[in-house]
Amino acid sequence: MKNTSSRGTSGVAGRKNGIPEDDSFLSPRQWAVAETHRTPAALMRLPLPKRIRALVKLHGTPLMVIDKRILIEEYKRFCQLLPRVQPYYAIKSNPHPDIIKTFRDLGGCFDVASQGELKHVLACGVSPHRIIFANTIKRPEALTFARRARVKLLTFDNEPELYKIAKYHPGAQVLARLKVANAGSIVELSLKFGADQELITPMLLKARKLGLKPVGVSFHVGSQCTNFQNYQRAFEATASILREAADEGLKLSMVDIGGGFPIRHFKAETVTLETFAAQMRRELNRLFPKEIALIAEPGRALCGPAGMLITRVAGRSIRNNKNYYYLDDGVYGDFSGMVFDHCKYEFRTLKKTEKFLSILAGPTCDSFDTIALSVELPELEVGDVVYVPNIGAYSCASAVVFNGIPPAKVIVV
Ligand SMILES: Cc1ncc(COP(=O)(O)O)c(C=O)c1O
Repeated sequence: MKNTSSRGTSGVAGRKNGIPEDDSFLSPRQWAVAETHRTPAALMRLPLPKRIRALVKLHGTPLMVIDKRILIEEYKRFCQLLPRVQPYYAIKSNPHPDIIKTFRDLGGCFDVASQGELKHVLACGVSPHRIIFANTIKRPEALTFARRARVKLLTFDNEPELYKIAKYHPGAQVLARLKVANAGSIVELSLKFGADQELITPMLLKARKLGLKPVGVSFHVGSQCTNFQNYQRAFEATASILREAADEGLKLSMVDIGGGFPIRHFKAETVTLETFAAQMRRELNRLFPKEIALIAEPGRALCGPAGMLITRVAGRSIRNNKNYYYLDDGVYGDFSGMVFDHCKYEFRTLKKTEKFLSILAGPTCDSFDTIALSVELPELEVGDVVYVPNIGAYSCASAVVFNGIPPAKVIVV
């Protein structure tokens, strides 16, 4: 089933250790940076059960641990699988300053969706020419801010936006976002974004008339896209736009293949970027000559596998003949991806005893705050750990404080 979603993003300005100060809405208590949480890196090399116990002892729960080694591996894997494609990490998936700095140090570029995210990335020491403002709808103030900050690369998908860009960010480089098939992707984006193919070249020509620099085409195949056909069709449509624009005397130089690259959230999932990377490389080489710069905006693929959420059982009962466990994190917190990202997760425990059909719920006084209605789990006691791997993307990024219960502390180690 297709889902429509505009996921929440968090973004902030910051000065001290990349942590926001005055105008921020990322709370430093939640988004703890390395300098403040001081978790020894050696701890991450302990066998998993020991590592989890040590982390819980040090930080308590709920705790979102982002493994820096996995971030680096995933970034390098992306670059190896798609060597022609420069990744612009979509920070909406997880804006932790230490993730941004990790990718910054690997030569990464960044996709931001708002003025807040833009300020945040700049405060993390990223230079403006390594940033794309890839929300097709931007507030006038955000455009003025981007111009002053010398962030030049922007996307758009409609004419009113072009006029706005021309007014508030004259001379900006623009990519027209094409509406492409999102068939089978878990998060559908094409309902809200992208213009029909026949409108793209005329809009790029219009951009030139307005004094902007039309540089290329962008698209997004939908998040967690396991259907390569979405990419294939988007590549072909984009190549045809590039030819059409050239016929009109407009030489485009950049193609932004967006995000959507799938990851394994739980063992049963088999398709990842690795599955179709060879095909993707072949098609990119066939359709786009070497002088076309290829960029992408991966979010989930870079930070999802690095994240592990550690929770504990805060209460338990038996309801409808099933074990019913109330965790210290829930749907309003770091499981918010179940709502906004339509995500499913794998729940693990440190116990190896017999399993029973169980229910997991969050800590708030809302029955909507139910995490899993039938999951096989060992008998758990209050204080026992339930942890979730591969939950680094679209989780803490959209968590809120509800019932006065703060989301997990997020650390990168
Ligand atoms: C414009 C844009 N770029 C990139 C992304 C990141 O997508 P993903 O996490 O699927 O790679 C998103 C996600 O919503 C997006 O809206």
